[in-house]
Amino acid sequence: MTISGIKGFNDILPGEVEKWQHIEKVARRVFELYGFSEIRVPILEKTELFARSIGDATDIVEKEMYSFVDKGDNRVTMRPEGTAGVMRAFIEHKLHAIDPVTKLYYMGPMFRYERPQKGRYRQFHQIGAEVTGVTNPLVDAQVLTMLCHFFAELGLSEPRLEINSLGCPDCRAAYRGVLREFLHSKMDELCDDCRRRVETNPLRALDCKSSGCKAATSNAPSVLEHLDKGCAEHFAATRHFLEVAGTPYSINHRMVRGLDYYTRTTFELVTGMLGAQSAVAAGGRYDGLVSDLGGPNIPGIGFAMGVERVALLLAEQDFKRSPDLFIAALGEPARDQAFRLMSSLQRIGVSVETDYEGKSLKSQMRRSDKFNARFTLIIGEEELAIGRGFLKSMSAGTQEETPFTVEEIYLKVKGVDENKTC
Ligand code: HAM
Repeated sequence: MTISGIKGFNDILPGEVEKWQHIEKVARRVFELYGFSEIRVPILEKTELFARSIGDATDIVEKEMYSFVDKGDNRVTMRPEGTAGVMRAFIEHKLHAIDPVTKLYYMGPMFRYERPQKGRYRQFHQIGAEVTGVTNPLVDAQVLTMLCHFFAELGLSEPRLEINSLGCPDCRAAYRGVLREFLHSKMDELCDDCRRRVETNPLRALDCKSSGCKAATSNAPSVLEHLDKGCAEHFAATRHFLEVAGTPYSINHRMVRGLDYYTRTTFELVTGMLGAQSAVAAGGRYDGLVSDLGGPNIPGIGFAMGVERVALLLAEQDFKRSPDLFIAALGEPARDQAFRLMSSLQRIGVSVETDYEGKSLKSQMRRSDKFNARFTLIIGEEELAIGRGFLKSMSAGTQEETPFTVEEIYLKVKGVDENKTC
């Protein structure tokens, strides 16, 4: 009997993995343009870290965490997101003592026990970025501009940026009271979950997918009308700087995030192309998180994107790599020559494929086609005897005579496409 993988945990196979590598490469390139450095933190953290940062009353902490007691009786959790671990590391290694303004990015697997469907998995991958130490809304606009720049570099016109402000703990508490009062007048129309949430987390009712709740809250009071002076100014300045940077956005005052640490600016990059899973990336400001985790009073802002969702948006594109050259060899002596050339060319940056099994010329040519090689070099007995062979350009259909020297072949193969990097 074979053993299958676990539900909601996916394999990323060759053919698809090239798309992931492309996404990761573009993220590194763009983020580094904006001064971000990579940080790598563990997958396993103390459960308490997530309970304290994401919030006890959130779906993630209440229902979705992969938590267990390890052999040393410690309660540990496989990270459901990246921000908490990155901020834990920021505090633990006193990165703020070197410079309170840090710009960090990370990538890797996250785990949430959710009901799997298209774009939603139990092991999924995030690429995220966090900036600490800046209260000025200039940085809110910069983080968002960088995120939009990333999607533009991928050639995607979707997703679109939506922003909101959830205010600070003070004005949010007042808004929560106003919203709770409104929801009390709609109790009959709300679903069971939302009726329960009216007391614990009334904002979640704005995010409920049930049509009854959507209709009941359609004219709910807006958080943006209940921001205090400081939060309203912060939001106005964020909008101003987004406009200065030329980053298009729209306001969604009903946007509620599923994590408790947010303050002021929150945002999502949304698409209509992935069914129910509309958020491709999301994040916001978390000015109280570092101090809540026992660190100094340092603000933060960041985002994370779901790599599976970005990959789905790139679905039509083919990132499969093809070799520069396929060498077809016929007979033992030719195979030695082919292997010598192959090894030398690979060492200087030419990607080369060959046939390992000594098959017929016809079968080797089929293999070259399958690899979609740019060039094919055939070495048979005759070619070996005169020390020259024909290098065929598979796209142009032309062929050129070449001696079996590494330099000549390198120039012919690489010279055709000067922009191609190793
Ligand atoms: P989040 O909204 O929970 O935020 O997740 C960010 C992104 O991760 C989502 O927009 C989505 O693309 C992806 N994602 C989440 N859950 C799943 C899932 N089950 N399957 C596939 N993709 C998923 C955070 O995690 C925050 N840490 C973001 C942040 C960083 N805020 C500030 N800094």
